[in-house]
Amino acid sequence: MNRPRKVHVKSFGCQMNVYDSHRMADTLAPDGYVETAHPAEADLVILNTCHIREKAVDKVYSEIGRIREMKDAAALEGRQMLIAVAGCVAQAEGQEIIRRTDSVDLVVGSQNYHRLPGLLARARDGEKIVDTEFPLEDKFDALAQPSQQTIRRRGVASFVTVQEGCDKFCTFCVVPYTRGAEMSRPVAKIVADVEKLADSGVREISLIGQNVNAYHGLDANGAPVTLGQLVRRLAEVPGIARLRYMTSHPRDMLSGMCDDLIAAHGDLAELMPYVHLPVQSGSDRILAAMNRKHTRREYLEAIARLRAARPDLAFTSDFIVGFPGETEADFRDTLTLAEEVNFAMAYTFMYSTRPGTPAATLEDQVPDAEKSERLQRLQAVITRQWQAFNRSFVGQTMELLLEKPGKLSGQLVGRSPYLQSVHVMADPSLIGSIVNVRITDVGSNTLFGVMESDSAAPSPRPEKVREASPAGA
Ligand code: SAH
Ligand code: SF4
Ligand code: F3S
Repeated sequence: MNRPRKVHVKSFGCQMNVYDSHRMADTLAPDGYVETAHPAEADLVILNTCHIREKAVDKVYSEIGRIREMKDAAALEGRQMLIAVAGCVAQAEGQEIIRRTDSVDLVVGSQNYHRLPGLLARARDGEKIVDTEFPLEDKFDALAQPSQQTIRRRGVASFVTVQEGCDKFCTFCVVPYTRGAEMSRPVAKIVADVEKLADSGVREISLIGQNVNAYHGLDANGAPVTLGQLVRRLAEVPGIARLRYMTSHPRDMLSGMCDDLIAAHGDLAELMPYVHLPVQSGSDRILAAMNRKHTRREYLEAIARLRAARPDLAFTSDFIVGFPGETEADFRDTLTLAEEVNFAMAYTFMYSTRPGTPAATLEDQVPDAEKSERLQRLQAVITRQWQAFNRSFVGQTMELLLEKPGKLSGQLVGRSPYLQSVHVMADPSLIGSIVNVRITDVGSNTLFGVMESDSAAPSPRPEKVREASPAGA
């Protein structure tokens, strides 16, 4: 029998890419590909790329250089290694990637992954292939064909795409160009995926989409369903204990189509009290120049309405500093907005010029030194807020979904309702269970706790905790 082919998929960028990477591996499984964590031994390396900021693109090209050395070493052993570039850089740069580096065999856009087996067969024969057309058929339909490997479980918490693409055209952003027009999956397909995952032991589902709260998929009668109605439907699936969704747009939150989503936060225990609501800036002038289609006051109103439905809701956000024309006064509006909301966590980015987007040609680009200084000031505020948020749980009891073994023997890692990772001493048979844990201590990016039933045995801290700030750019 032939040796199984090995595929290594590396994801850059957002959760959508993580999800797509899993789907690519699932699509290749019937073709005899098994996944490997080691690129050097792979017959196929897929880089699932991100185009959002210049740095993200640089990372991809330096990774291609690294994999190229492995490909050359494999060739010396008489072994063929194919390199495929997928995702948003593939979509944006297409043929240019193969022109820039001849070690890449295949460039495949984010809507064409279901065609991978056929494309790879051609690439194995030595053809260089670029397939970045947006599809005529529905990508979601293609991935759901019974002939393809359908969704497979990878742990007790899972992503499910419900919506993809974006029609908002924020002036700084490449996503509408790399992911195409907004599109929602039909309800029945999402329910089928969630039921399958639940049957295999998944307890928590994160519904993902670039504009997830603009979801308007169709039900069996062809009627549009909102995200609020969808989460209520999914909460009924036996085994599903927790639901999350990301990323939401503030304007959709206020549009009326999210009234039932906001209400669901008040009365659906399965819906976790943690909402990612990117704001980008606290200045109305900059929000308008960004084409965000909402004001500072409207953003705060969305937060207030969600908090009214569920007072213990925590918010996370994305910020861009140094957008063209941003003055010190505009930036101070961003700082005061952050103070006003008090975020549990936020991602902060320096504005990065993206060729082809409207903001790229604006005058008044902010010098790098100023961007960097503002980034540090904003990060200081956000870091103080997330540290205080985490510390506020010491001595409190939280529900933890136990996900996997920790670094120490006898230790498990779980997630709180607020997505904090929590280390606790517990029996491995409890993975997949939701348990009550009393929080005893806070590390740099994890909490420590004890099971409520055996509070006598506190969880020792691992010697070294990874030092990483979630507020990093
Ligand atoms: N709605 C999307 C946002 C994707 S981009 C979602 O589903 O997540 C994620 C974040 O990257 C944005 O919220 C924004 O803060 C940041 N970003 C996008 N384009 C950027 C640019 N040109 N420069 C700096 N940051 C950017
Ligand atoms: Fe980009 Fe704006 Fe669309 Fe988010 S809403 S993906 S930031 S264009
Ligand atoms: Fe990056 Fe594409 Fe996601 S540009 S953030 S991988 S949608």
